Amino acid sequence: MTRRASARLSFQVMAALDDDARAALRADIEAHGVQVPILRTTDGRIIDGHHRAQIAEALGIDCPSTTVDLDDTQAIEMALRLNILRRHLGPVAWASAFRRLAEVRGLRVGTQGRQRSAGKTDNVAVFPERPADLSALAGELGVTPRTARRRLRLAEKLAGHPDLAAKVDRGEIDARRAEELVRRENFDRRRAAAPPAPVVALGSGIEVRCGDFREVLSDIPGASVDAIVCDPPYDDAGIPLYSDLSAFAARVLKPGRLCIAYCGKVDLPEQLERLGEHLQYVWTGAVFLPGRHSEHHGRMIRGRWRPVAIFSAGKYAPRHWLIDAMTSEGAGIKGPTDHRWQQSVGPFVRWVEQVTEPGELVVDPFCGSGTTGLACQATRRRFLGADIDPGSVSLTIERLRAADAAQGAAS
Ligand SMILES: C[S@@+](CC[C@H](N)C(=O)[O-])C[C@H]1O[C@@H](n2cnc3c(N)ncnc32)[C@H](O)[C@@H]1O
Repeated sequence: MTRRASARLSFQVMAALDDDARAALRADIEAHGVQVPILRTTDGRIIDGHHRAQIAEALGIDCPSTTVDLDDTQAIEMALRLNILRRHLGPVAWASAFRRLAEVRGLRVGTQGRQRSAGKTDNVAVFPERPADLSALAGELGVTPRTARRRLRLAEKLAGHPDLAAKVDRGEIDARRAEELVRRENFDRRRAAAPPAPVVALGSGIEVRCGDFREVLSDIPGASVDAIVCDPPYDDAGIPLYSDLSAFAARVLKPGRLCIAYCGKVDLPEQLERLGEHLQYVWTGAVFLPGRHSEHHGRMIRGRWRPVAIFSAGKYAPRHWLIDAMTSEGAGIKGPTDHRWQQSVGPFVRWVEQVTEPGELVVDPFCGSGTTGLACQATRRRFLGADIDPGSVSLTIERLRAADAAQGAAS
C-alpha cells in the first residue's frame, strides 16, 4: 500500500513525526521489527500506528495489528488518547491534542474570545465549563489540571506563531522566551500602525488620551478627581515624573482623596520623597506576585512583591477601611497582554473599589495597556487615562473595547 493510501485509511489525528523522530523509529523497526502492534478498526482503518505501518511497508517487513470494534468518534478519541500518552509531545502539541480530545468528549476548553469578570481566576476561563471533568481528563492523561491549563494558555498565546510553537515543542526555546517574542512582535505591530486619535471616548465615562500627561491632562479642573490609581515608570528616566505626578495629583484631586501609585523598589526612597513634595504620605501597600519575581543580581535579591505608595491631597479623609496588601492572581480580565509592564487587573479592581464609589472619576496618567481603565469599567467608575506611547494607547483602547463588547454580550 502506498503512504497516501495508508493515510486515507487511518485516523491521522496528530501531526506527522519530524524527520529525526521518524528516522529513530525506522532504525528501531529495522533492528527489532514492529514491537507494538498497530490498532485498526474492523474495516481496516488505522487508529494508532500509522508511522509504524508506513515504515514496515517501506521496509517490506511484517506489521502485526490488533482489531477493535469502534465507531469513528470512539476511534478518534482512542487515537488522541494513545498519542498523548505515548508520544513525547511538546507543550503546544499536547495542548492542541488535549483540546481536540476534550471536544470529542463534548467539553469546551479555552480563553480566546471570552471575557472574564474582574477578579475571577484564570482557572475558570481555561476550563470554562465542567471544570471537574476537564481536570479529570488532565489526570487521566497523567498531568495536573494546573499543567494542562498552563499548556493551553501557552498554546493560545503562540497561536498564529507556528514557528515559535514548533521551537518550544522541540525544546529549542523556553516557553517564557517564546511568549516574550510574541508580545514584542504584537506590540511593535501596534506601534507601527496608525497612531490613535489624541482623545478617544469609549462611552460610560471612559476616555483615553495620547500624549505626555503633563500636557494632555492639563485641562482637568482643580479638585475634580476622586482618585488617581497609577503605575508610573520605575526606571531612572522616570524618577522626575514622580515630582510631576505629585504636583498634578495635588491640583486635580478632591481634598483628602488618594493617589495610589505602584512603585519600584530600587529607587523607592526617592520616589516616595518626590511624591511627598505636594502630597501627604498616608501608607505603603503591597501587591504580592506569586510565581513571578524580578531578579536584582547586584544585590542577589529575588523580588516577589510590589510596593504601592498611598498619598493624599491635603489631609487624608478616609471613607472606608482600606486593606493594604493583596495578591496578584494572573492577567485577570482577558485581553491582549502585549504591554511589557502590564499589571494584573485584579489588584487594580480592589484599589479602585476601596478608594472610590461607582460613578466617581479615576485618573491614570500612565495607563500603559489600560489596566486601571479595565478595573474602572468593571466596577462602573468613570476613567480618564493617558499614555505618552501611541502603541500603549492603542492597546488600552483595544482592551477596553474588547471588555466592553464582552460585557455587552454577557448582559
Ligand atoms: C509601568 S507602565 C504602566 C503599565 C500599566 N499599569 C499596565 O498595566 O499596562 C508606565 C507607562 O507610563 C507611560 N509614560 C511614561 N512617561 C509618560 C508621560 N510623561 N506621560 C504619560 N505616560 C507616560 C509609558 O509609556 C508606560 O506605558
